[in-house]
Amino acid sequence: MSPTEPTPFDDDAPFSLPHASIRLRPIAEHDVDAIMTWINDPEITRNFAAFSEPISREQELAFIRRMRASRLDRLFAIERVGEDGPLIGTAGLHQIYWPARNGRLGLMIGRRTEQGRGLGQEALRLLVAYGFSRLGLHKLWLVHYADNGRMRHIAGKLGFHQEGVLRDEYFHAERWHDMVRHAILEPEWRAARLGSAADAG
Ligand SMILES: CC(C)(COP(=O)(O)OP(=O)(O)OC[C@H]1O[C@@H](n2cnc3c(N)ncnc32)[C@H](O)[C@@H]1OP(=O)(O)O)[C@@H](O)C(=O)NCCC(=O)NCCS
Repeated sequence: MSPTEPTPFDDDAPFSLPHASIRLRPIAEHDVDAIMTWINDPEITRNFAAFSEPISREQELAFIRRMRASRLDRLFAIERVGEDGPLIGTAGLHQIYWPARNGRLGLMIGRRTEQGRGLGQEALRLLVAYGFSRLGLHKLWLVHYADNGRMRHIAGKLGFHQEGVLRDEYFHAERWHDMVRHAILEPEWRAARLGSAADAG
């Protein structure tokens, strides 16, 4: 069965799972100012090859508009369930290749005080559930810098398999970086969540 391609943001409803403390809400133009508070933070940007140059508010706004119009991307704001608190970060599905039903995941807990509190793994769990159960994708993958121990750890913890190392893939901050690719298949995800009522979203 091949899934119907969703129209760009035909559904602006947030996505979450039972017992999750956060939810994924489709990104909106009004999120730009929150994102600007972290998008040029070197502690954040060092993890992304695409962020070699400072990003202006206009560029970020154009990016949000592009994401909202795209059939190949779904970008979300991460926010706490039941709170009007500030945005925690962003999470997205990108480079969706509909013929093979795969897509790349991206994740940023941008608010530094919120890092290391379990929210990144919760957001990744939601993204994966969204990609498989809502979009009908078959494979989800991500790449991270080889020295990004946190990302490597949470990908492994959530059942991703390391597929390979892309040697000297990016040049950033005056040196070459290896990138590690991880991926999870829909049947692996389905098998892992059997018996876990909390993930039955
Ligand atoms: C990477 C990121 C998404 C992780 O989210 P987070 O909310 O900070 O992480 P969590 O608190 O959910 O989980 C961190 C886990 O990594 C472990 N960890 C922390 N530092 C580690 C390290 N150096 N090596 C290995 N594991 C590490 C923690 O113990 C924890 O695991 P546990 O729950 O099993 O104990 C977040 O820190 C972030 O957005 N960083 C900046 C941008 C980025 O790197 N994005 C990913 C690009 S692909």
